[in-house]
Amino acid sequence: MTLAAAKVCVFDAYGTLFDIGGIARSVQGELGDKAETLLRVWRRRQLELSWLPLRAGVAADFWRVTDEALEFAMETLRLDDRGLRHRLMEGWLRPELYPEVIQSLSRLREMGCRTAILSNGTVRMLEAGAAGLRAHLDAVLSAQSVQRFKPDPLVYQLAATHFGVTPESVCFVSANAWDVSGAAAFGFQVVWINRDNVSPEKLPLGTKATVANLAELPVILGG
Ligand code: LAC
Repeated sequence: MTLAAAKVCVFDAYGTLFDIGGIARSVQGELGDKAETLLRVWRRRQLELSWLPLRAGVAADFWRVTDEALEFAMETLRLDDRGLRHRLMEGWLRPELYPEVIQSLSRLREMGCRTAILSNGTVRMLEAGAAGLRAHLDAVLSAQSVQRFKPDPLVYQLAATHFGVTPESVCFVSANAWDVSGAAAFGFQVVWINRDNVSPEKLPLGTKATVANLAELPVILGG
C-alpha cells in the first residue's frame, strides 16, 4: 500500500506534536545555559530508562521514568531544588505545541484521515498534554494500557487494533529515529519529522518520507 493510501495518521507525542523545549525555556531565567543541557541529559536518560527490560512487578509508568531521569539529570548538573524539580515535572502536563500542529491535524481530518496520538506518556500525562488537541484527534492512545514502552510491538498494535486496520494502512509520524525504526519494523508506513535538519541516525529506519514539519504531511498524503 502506498503512503498516500493511508487513512489513519498516528503521531508520537513528545518531540513530534509537543515541543518539550518549552520545559527548558520555562526555567531559562533561573538556570541560564544550564536549562538546555539539563533537558538534553534528562530526555536522553528518560528514553534510556524506557528501553530497559521491564522489572517484574514494576509498572511501565512514563511519569515515574521521567521523574527518575530528572533526578539523574539534576544530580549530573549539581542542582538540588525540590521546587524546581516539581515545576520541571509539571511541564510535561502543559507541553507547548509546535506551531503547525493544530492546522495540520485539522487539514488531515478534512481529507478524511483519522488521527491519533500513540505515546509512552501515561494516560494522565496525555490527557493533560493533549487537552487542546481533542477536537482534532480521534484517539489518544497510551502505552500504559499495555504496560509496555515503545518500540515494543504491543504498543504499535494499540493503534492498529483501535482503528481496526492493518499496520500498512497506518501512517506513523515521529521525530525520534528509534521510534521510527520500531514502527517501521511493526509494519507502519513511517514518516520521520526532522525539524532541526539533523543527519539521519542510520538506523534501519524504513521511512517512507522525511518532512521538516507537519504542514508537509497533507501534501504527501494526497491532500
Ligand atoms: C512518546 C515519546 C517517546 O511520546 O516521544 O512516546
